[in-house]
Formats: sequence, C-alpha cells, structure tokens
Amino acid sequence: MINRRDFLQQGAMGAAGLLLAPKGGRASAASSRAADSRIEVLFDEPLGTISPNIYGHFVENLSGVLYDGIWLGEKSPVANIDGLRKSLIEHMRKIKATVIRFPGGCFADSYDWRDGIGPAEKRPRRTNFWAMGEPEKAPVSHRYDPNAVGTNEFVHFCKLIGAEPYLAANVRSLPASAFQQWVEYCNSPAGSTTLADARAAAGYPDPFRVKYWGVGNESWGCGGEFTPQEYAVEFRRYSTWLPTYGDNLNLIASGPNTDDWSWTREFLTEVLRKGPGELRRIYGMALHHYAWNLSRGKTQDWVAGKGEALKFDAVDWYELLREGERMECLITGHWQVLSEFDHQHRVKLVVDEWGPWYRPGSEATPGDQLEQMPTLRDAVFSGMTLDIFNRHPEKVAMANCAQLINCLNSLYLAHEDKFVITPVGHVFDLYSSHQGGEALRTVFSAPNVHYDRDGQSASYWGLKGSASVRDKDLTITAVNPSTGEPRLAEIALRGATVKEASLRFLSNADMHAHNTFEQREVVVPQTKPLSMSGGNLVVEFPPASVVALNIQLN
Ligand code: AHR
Repeated sequence: MINRRDFLQQGAMGAAGLLLAPKGGRASAASSRAADSRIEVLFDEPLGTISPNIYGHFVENLSGVLYDGIWLGEKSPVANIDGLRKSLIEHMRKIKATVIRFPGGCFADSYDWRDGIGPAEKRPRRTNFWAMGEPEKAPVSHRYDPNAVGTNEFVHFCKLIGAEPYLAANVRSLPASAFQQWVEYCNSPAGSTTLADARAAAGYPDPFRVKYWGVGNESWGCGGEFTPQEYAVEFRRYSTWLPTYGDNLNLIASGPNTDDWSWTREFLTEVLRKGPGELRRIYGMALHHYAWNLSRGKTQDWVAGKGEALKFDAVDWYELLREGERMECLITGHWQVLSEFDHQHRVKLVVDEWGPWYRPGSEATPGDQLEQMPTLRDAVFSGMTLDIFNRHPEKVAMANCAQLINCLNSLYLAHEDKFVITPVGHVFDLYSSHQGGEALRTVFSAPNVHYDRDGQSASYWGLKGSASVRDKDLTITAVNPSTGEPRLAEIALRGATVKEASLRFLSNADMHAHNTFEQREVVVPQTKPLSMSGGNLVVEFPPASVVALNIQLN
C-alpha cells in the first residue's frame, strides 16, 4: 500500500452584459418554464471580507512548471518579458492573480535560495527533488536545476503580474540562519546590508518586501518527517528572530495533510508550551487537500486509488466532486481545533495546495511529471472549491491552487511556443470579482441529483455557490454539478434590487471537454440572456456548468 507520504519521500520516483428589462418586463423562454431552484442572497447577513489571496497560485520547481512553463530565457524566440512567458503574464494580470507560492512543495525543503542569486552563468546546477521521477528524455533542466530562476526572477514575475510573492523556506535541510538571510536578502533596505548590495547588483536596489513566508512544507512528510511536536520546536526556533524592517512578516506553519486533526492539535499544544504569546508568531496554518481517491471506496492506496483525467464516467465525475467537497469539512474541522487554542481566532487557514490529482497519462507534453489535462470536470471542481472558500471568509486567509501551469490542476498548459488556458484558468477569470468583496450568506435550494453508483442509488446536491458584494456590485457564482440536468433558478435579493446584470458561464455537452494546444477554445466563457420574473432574476444553469453573475444594484 502506498500513501502520499511514501510517494513523495521517494522523490516521486518512480459577457456581453445584458441590460435587464425593467421589473415585470417580458420573460424569456427560460423563465417561461417553472423554476425548480431558488437562490436567496441575504444582504443583512454578511459573513466577512473575502481575502483576495484566496485566489492565489502555486509554482513549484517541478518538471515543466518553471522551465518551459514560466521561464523561456531572454534569448527565446517565444514572446517573453525578461525571459518570462509573456502570454502567461498577460492572462494572470487579466484574472487579477493576487499571490504566488514558490519554490515548492517538496522542492522547497531541498532548495538553497543562495544558489539562485548572482550572475546566471555562475549559478550552480543541482539535482532537483523531483529528478528521479523524470523520464529519460526529459529536458536536462527538469532533472538538474540550472537555477536560472531564483528569487530575483520569481519576484520580478510576481511584480509584472501585480501579485505578492509567498516564499517557502527550507526547514528540512538548511539552518535557521539561511532563512533569516533569505529574509534579509529580500527585504533589507537598499544599501543597508551586504545582501541588499547583492540584490542591487542584480538590478533590484529596492527591497522586495516579501510578506508571506512558509516555514517548511508538509513537514509531516517530504519536509522532514517530523512529528507535530518536533516540527513545533523547529517552528519556534526558525521564527524566533527574523528581521522585519518595519513590515509584518506573515509566517505560515506547515499544517496538516487533509483530515489529520491531531497534527493541528499537537503542533499547537507544543508551540504553546512556551506560553500563549507564541500564537503571535503564526499568521496561518497551511492545509493541503488533494482529491485523488476515485476508487469508490475500494482502496486507500495512493497509486491504485487514482482515477483518469480524461477517461471517466458520470459516477467518476461525482466521485471527484465528493472528494473535493471534503474541503468544507476540513476548513470547519481544523478551525474547530484552532479554536481550542486560539479563542480570538488570530490564526487563519492557508490552503496552500488544493486540486484534483489523477494518474499519469493525459499530459499535454508527454513526459512532464505530474502534468494532467484539466477538463470541464476540473472546472466544476474548482468553482465549487472557490465557492467553499468564499463561504468561509473569516477562516481562510489564502489559498493556492496546485499548480499554476503544466502540473495537476493547471490554469495553463504551455510547451515551447504553445500556450493554452485550461477550463480551470477560465474559472479564475469568472470568479475574480469576488476578491475583496463582502461575502453574503446565500441560500441555495435545488433538487438533488440522483444516480446509480455501482448498483446503489446515490444522490448529490443540485446547485451551490457563493455571493459577495462590493459597493453596488454583486457577484454570484455557482456550479450545477449534474451531468445531465439544467437548473432554472429564481434569484431573490433580500435587501437590494437589480439595475443591470450579466452572466458568463462555462459548460459543454461533453463532460470530458477540454482545451488543447490544437483546439484552444472548446471550453471558454460564454454569455446567455437573463430575464426577470416577479422582480426576481431567472437564471438557467446548464448541466455541468460553472456560472458567474455580475449584478449592478440600484
Ligand atoms: O504539488 C505536488 C506536491 O504535492 C507538492 O510538492 C507537495 O507539497 C504535495 O505533496
């Protein structure tokens, strides 16, 4: 039996906007059918401000993510900005990408940031954490890290996009002093330290002012195989003195794998052994959850339990969503454990890795490790997950989809001059107007979906989503998980009226639909007319769809 820890330990071996008709105006064909669902947005029940960082990303130095995905090199014939893929930067600006985590993942705890600074030609080549899982024909840079992308290039990438960098420090194989000096390199004022001079020599005199720092990654596994108590001791040591230069450093502790409640509890028990003031060190507790087990309850084996990215039936579709939906219980469960120690709830959750994880075989670039082809199923999964985060704004301070490009739940796929936005990338576009909005409690009522799960009747909810408001702009997003049935929903705004509204959605008659380098627009945002009935908006949610409504209020 293989679990994720064993696997990782082996180094992976092996709108067109529509101006609405006035209230009571003529109904469209959709609204002439009776609505079967209802969405009530409760303006007097705000839940908290949605942290823009929930819409964050994750970039690991893993196979085709960095080299090929992001980094092309200044001499590349492919359009680039200072060596960084231009089309990627442009789309990430469009979706208002907020924060990007780097350099791992498991890679982080074998990485020495000092290898990635100074003149490119003098940087050392190192064996990548993921090297042993690379196929023979993989590009050399995937196995032996050329360090062409280091802190400068990564932070520059973030700044070009307008995103904040979130750096993960190495706790497994570097001393605490290396972490302190990384902070010093990034944040010490121009001219103040030798490391600030080194930064300036590379063309970056101004401090990077990196605010988010991970103290290790998956310290229960590839990040050192620590017990929660051992890690807590390391966490205190690594965080005891870090130079701040007048800015807050937001430290993220390596948190549990999925539902390992005892990790959270025992880590906090040990950290607080030195007194309740120790809580001040922790900005966030990381939480990782991958939806990987599609075996329908047959196995817990990390390899055998996985499903296919492209070949699946309707039952597999719902299995994936069920696995992903666990996220809501994980958030509320770990929050509950946090509340045992942190009555004020100063410490937030940082879901810095999430997404589906399939078995190999669907790579857009054959040979790219952990690359998979995101389909419409992954778009629905991702919309559902972002809605979960939106519904818990007081708990989740940040989330980072794993990963940005050429890996797992990619927003983008790229190889050499080829680049495509996946259905997941379009979901981030549809959802971007939630960032910084006030989440509102919203009640979704819809008939359940019923289906046959290996001879047993099974059901799944019929419509769920989230809503947020900023000034006069209301955003409602939702997914219809049914592979076959549309939902027609009346939307009642309790405490506001509609002035204008527009709708964009992702769907396709084929649940396997996906975008490839050759066919890039199979799953792209579409628009649809809206109508009013009795003062309520009436919206059709096609089968297997992700829907975003942007409503201007009076
Ligand atoms: O995202 C791939 C890997 O999954 C990361 O390196 C690790 O943190 C997680 O187990």
